[in-house]
Amino acid sequence: MTKIPKTYRVKSFGCQMNVYDGERMAELLAAEGMTPASDGADADLVVLNTCHIREKAAEKAYSDVGRLRRDDGSKPIVALAGCVAQAEGAEAKARSSLIDLVVGPQAYHRLPQMVAAAAKGLRPVDTDMPAISKFGALPARRKVGPSAFLTVQEGCDKFCTYCVVPYTRGAEISRPFADVVAEAEALVRGGARELTLLGQNVNAYQGGLDQLIRAIAAIDGLERIRYTTSHPADMSDALIAAHGEVDKLMPYLHLPVQSGSDSILKAMNRSHTAESYLRTIEKVRAVRPDIAISGDFIVGFPGETEEDFQATLSIVDAVRYASAYSFKYSARPGTPAAAMEGAVSAEVMDDRLQRLQARLAEHSLAFNRATIGKDTTILIDRKGRLPGQMIGKSPWLQSVFVETDAMIGDMVDVSVTHALPNSMGAILTTAKAA
Ligand code: SAH
Ligand code: SF4
Ligand code: F3S
Repeated sequence: MTKIPKTYRVKSFGCQMNVYDGERMAELLAAEGMTPASDGADADLVVLNTCHIREKAAEKAYSDVGRLRRDDGSKPIVALAGCVAQAEGAEAKARSSLIDLVVGPQAYHRLPQMVAAAAKGLRPVDTDMPAISKFGALPARRKVGPSAFLTVQEGCDKFCTYCVVPYTRGAEISRPFADVVAEAEALVRGGARELTLLGQNVNAYQGGLDQLIRAIAAIDGLERIRYTTSHPADMSDALIAAHGEVDKLMPYLHLPVQSGSDSILKAMNRSHTAESYLRTIEKVRAVRPDIAISGDFIVGFPGETEEDFQATLSIVDAVRYASAYSFKYSARPGTPAAAMEGAVSAEVMDDRLQRLQARLAEHSLAFNRATIGKDTTILIDRKGRLPGQMIGKSPWLQSVFVETDAMIGDMVDVSVTHALPNSMGAILTTAKAA
């Protein structure tokens, strides 16, 4: 029989919502009297908050579990959480005897009771998606860093044919407006100056994401608002208008397109075309010309021809993305695309990904170079590697390096001096004036 754990460690992988969930699980354990394990020390309880989006991410979960066995043969209590837990449920216990409990993303408010059961030698599994929201059962937010995540919407009803999220996160639900505003206020009281509103389809927020952004913008002490991830089909005119009207809403939009080929988009069940997507980008740029557009791409979807791929390169050139994430298609069990014909070979996928990433890097560099000489404000979020160097985020979500004695959480005025595809250098504006 294992004993009740005193220390914990939560490790999150995958998307920002998993990071948010990981923080909330940590708060839940802390509210039970457990303390976070200090750096380098063994924890009595390890929560692996996993991602199932691509095969590599899902396999990583099990290799991480394996590594938790210590040299002396002992092990912590191991909780498998997140999207792998949801997808595999009780099967996860069969795959690894090290796993003591399995808890899905909609059930983690029950984590403390499950840990207590695991300490008694039981191996509980909870992958229910209860109608009652878990959020109401979570403790209040405690002190946070300068930039915080806030989940406002969860789940997805879009069923893109390659994607596991509708199965691992369940149906789309929006948190009540007043609850979200209350949590935003608590986060700002706890030290947040920037909030990123999260949802798998955040712009499908019931009650209007634009309205929510306007309400949150009224909170004193909050400087910056961001939101992610949006679906092109839910980019309403009201939300676009907010980009031109709400000063605290940062000039950055993550709007995944996945492919530039209409036949591939149709096979993906994306419900937008290359042209409708470009029209949306145009509307956003009309109200906010400097906006940084970011995207997600999949290469090698079943049936993708070189011509389809060329259409993807064309849309990249048309949009001129400031940043982007690109992936090789990964067949996921149970998704419709996994049964489609026309598999693209590994070599072709590698080649397309390389060509796509080279093109995306050119546009990122061009976007970053265009900010050289501009004065702007960054929110310091971490230390740089060199002494005296700090790194902060620009309004356009660029990582900006600067020499300053400012601290994490400070907002400092800088002038951008140089640009790389993934980062920028700057000097303090006061330094320039001196
Ligand atoms: N809800 C968001 C993102 C979901 S997952 C959206 O709709 O855009 C994040 C990204 O992972 C996706 O945008 C997609 O580019 C990628 N992705 C999802 N499933 C994938 C798969 N089976 N293979 C490769 N990439 C995938
Ligand atoms: Fe997945 Fe598509 Fe839903 Fe995004 S919109 S989470 S890619 S099913
Ligand atoms: Fe991964 Fe689940 Fe997020 S599959 S990307 S952790 S919603």
